[in-house]
Amino acid sequence: MTEADHPVLVVDLGAQYAQLIARRVREAHVYSEIVQHSISAAEVAAKQPGAIILSGGPKSVYEEGSPSIDPGIYELGIPILGICYGAQLLARDLGGTVTATGRGEYGRTELEVSRSTGLLESWGSGTVVWMSHGDQITAGPAGSVSMASTPEAPVAAFGDDDRRIYGVQFHPEVAHTERGQELIAMFLHDLAGLAPTWTNVSIIEAEVAKVQAQVGDEKVLCALSGGVDSAVAAALVHKAVGDQLTCVFVDTGLMRSNEGDQVEETFKNQFHVELIHVKAADRFFAALAGVTDPEAKRKIIGELFIRIFEEVARELGAGSGGDGPRYLVQGTLYPDVIESGSGHAANIKSHHNVGGLPEDLDFELCEPLRALFKDEVRAVGEELGLPEHIVWRQPFPGPGLAVRIVGEVTPERAEILRNADAVVVEEVKRAGLYRELWQSFAVLPAVRTVGVMGDGRTYAYPIIIRAVTSDDAMTADWARLPYDVVETIANRLINEVDGVNRVALDVTSKPPGTIEWE
Ligand code: XMP
Repeated sequence: MTEADHPVLVVDLGAQYAQLIARRVREAHVYSEIVQHSISAAEVAAKQPGAIILSGGPKSVYEEGSPSIDPGIYELGIPILGICYGAQLLARDLGGTVTATGRGEYGRTELEVSRSTGLLESWGSGTVVWMSHGDQITAGPAGSVSMASTPEAPVAAFGDDDRRIYGVQFHPEVAHTERGQELIAMFLHDLAGLAPTWTNVSIIEAEVAKVQAQVGDEKVLCALSGGVDSAVAAALVHKAVGDQLTCVFVDTGLMRSNEGDQVEETFKNQFHVELIHVKAADRFFAALAGVTDPEAKRKIIGELFIRIFEEVARELGAGSGGDGPRYLVQGTLYPDVIESGSGHAANIKSHHNVGGLPEDLDFELCEPLRALFKDEVRAVGEELGLPEHIVWRQPFPGPGLAVRIVGEVTPERAEILRNADAVVVEEVKRAGLYRELWQSFAVLPAVRTVGVMGDGRTYAYPIIIRAVTSDDAMTADWARLPYDVVETIANRLINEVDGVNRVALDVTSKPPGTIEWE
């Protein structure tokens, strides 16, 4: 199945859970898309969805201005699952009742199951579910049967097998709900009859076909950053159009240890991709000499990056109207595309100012990851044979080590930080923590401190260990690294990295701190 065929539409009714629901649907191997609740029945029909899921939401269905959907959608004969607010909306719109008792139900609750077939096939009473609601459904839609209850939810699940309309008051998409993923799969596969065909292999086939159709026999350019998104995008496009693709890796001198070599090894030697490795460290250090203001650093790096990329593109004939590259690959992901109205994507992107496009070259964009969530990108990367160190690499900011070097960025200071960073990463990996941490790295402040080593006094830099957990980088918590790991890192930093005589641990969450230091 390609994504264009019968997507599951997840209607966003104002919950923070719409994305999570869409991901759970994908985990059940069915393609999903998030749509706004203002979508019309005609627009829904035009997408020929295989099923519809109505998300939760923070409002009460009887509140003025609470989100609702075009009632024409109910007449399309498409299987519908309502979750929490979505279930209440189904009850309100289709002849059931929702009442406000003033008593909500939040968190873990045990379900009393009265009908363990269909949606709740073989579920027993006592199954733990996760609740978050103020109002109660007291009667499901006309024609539906009540399937379960809880102390504060007389109708905690309902189903109408004839119309294929189902609702659950609880949240099957959250991990705390036992059998939640099973319920979603039951709805999609058994009740809506959707085949589980959205797999890594089918994603690759579909995206390869799309890239081929878009690009034809034109040439394509891709800026590799060393990060997972651009790497997977490049590998997919290469699979689609082979040597029509040229990749450019600009080594700014501010990359992580071995990053350039690993990109070269993977793309040039393993995938045989045409790779231009621009060694531009000198230009970046020259441009950054004497600059200490964080925003000025970002701007200088961003602009120089674009200028260098432009030079390479022009040398290849881009923008000349000849047979130079016409398409530019971008690793845009689905969460960037979703118009959630939450402003999250906009916030994250506002400082993703490095690797921006040279506007006057007039490329058309090729975005093979536009439909994918990050975990799918990683899975596709693995399927395509990209090595683990690229697929599972932690995020790294566009301006590179520069935003972790407080004060002036010099080749010497960049070298100290790169060596320190390699030690932090190595030990975090050795402790088996690398994948569960959002980021873990070293920071070089602009002070030096006195120390004593052997017989002598030292006056050298401290290194700050920064490690955070996070889901999306919008908020983050400082990671409680085990003390023995901190100790090993600290010992190695002081013994192995020239120029370092002290180690500190950053225990700031975001907010109030940011993840990076600049
Ligand atoms: P902060 O430091 O704002 O960072 O908490 C949030 C996430 O974004 C990354 N980051 C960047 N990524 N270009 C990027 O591509 C940038 O200029 C940039 N600045 C920060 C940071 O590593 C973290 O994951």
